[in-house]
Amino acid sequence: MPLVTSTEMFKKAYDGGYAIGAFNVNNMEIVQGITEACREEHAPVILQVSKGARAYANHTYLVKLVEAAVAECPEIPVVLHLDHGPDFETCKSCIDGGFTSVMIDASGEPFAKNIEITRKVVEYAHDHGVVVEAELGTLAGVEDDVKVSAEDSSYTRPEEVEEFVSKTGCDSLAIAIGTSHGAYKFTAAQCTRNEKGILVPPPLRFDVLEEVSKRLPGFPIVLHGSSSVPQEYVKMINTHGGKMPDAVGIPEEQLRKAATMSVCKINIDSDLRLAMTGTIRQFFDEHPDKFDPREYLKPARANIKELVRHKLVDVLGCNGKA
Ligand code: G3H
Ligand code: 13P
Ligand code: ZN
Repeated sequence: MPLVTSTEMFKKAYDGGYAIGAFNVNNMEIVQGITEACREEHAPVILQVSKGARAYANHTYLVKLVEAAVAECPEIPVVLHLDHGPDFETCKSCIDGGFTSVMIDASGEPFAKNIEITRKVVEYAHDHGVVVEAELGTLAGVEDDVKVSAEDSSYTRPEEVEEFVSKTGCDSLAIAIGTSHGAYKFTAAQCTRNEKGILVPPPLRFDVLEEVSKRLPGFPIVLHGSSSVPQEYVKMINTHGGKMPDAVGIPEEQLRKAATMSVCKINIDSDLRLAMTGTIRQFFDEHPDKFDPREYLKPARANIKELVRHKLVDVLGCNGKA
């Protein structure tokens, strides 16, 4: 099956009470780990590429890697998506260059400007058979070279969503309900500690999600910043020479709940990075004499695969839906 848009996927996910995993890809091992898990679990998938990924690996290499995965996994639907498109030109370059979905992230602009920029991308994308994700509200954390502090982040205002969607014509909407990018989503001061001393973050704003869903019936909602920061990988990193104190993510049961609601796409990147880095750190610690990249990338890829499998089955609920 050739690359697809997310239209059909989101419709089924909305009706079926599950979400599609959107995983960031930067190199071959990450593409392979994700798609092998999706193939084995019969799960549709969104592979997403950020501006930083394009700068690192080159647009053509990433497109060809994803095309290779599609050839290897012909039975699962795969979307190739631009993550956090910063401007019209980047979106156009991806639309012209084989992507089937783009995000225009003008969420840092005033409301009217966000509508204007998003509308322009939607017109070009729809003329070329490509779908568009837009964003209203601002997440805290780091994406590409943009860092948003917790004070400058803001929840999506439900009263704005109908006007935004109808004026832009966007196909899905990313909203801010308390998720955030990166491995340090909350400061220790924002969290409480459970009996084991583990940080427990403040709960997501399901009231905002419910109000948005009420105003946009049937419309697919997207959650960014949805890594859970698995503590076993944080521990692995810290045990083998790393230093990531108090890294904390979104509890998986809250993501599972969101997936049963109007959330049709859940973005996960940091968790894959933690799995890869932890595995490689452990390998080097245990095998200081080894220097063949294949030897440490192989277990890293295997752990990404198992992590993605866990997300598909236990968090997103999209296994068996391809
Ligand atoms: O939201 C950002 C994604 O995690 C991509 O990160 O910009 O470092 O590629 P990146
Ligand atoms: P995480 O940093 O939580 O993995 O979020 C990724 C993301 O939202 C990509 O757009
Ligand atoms: Zn994001």
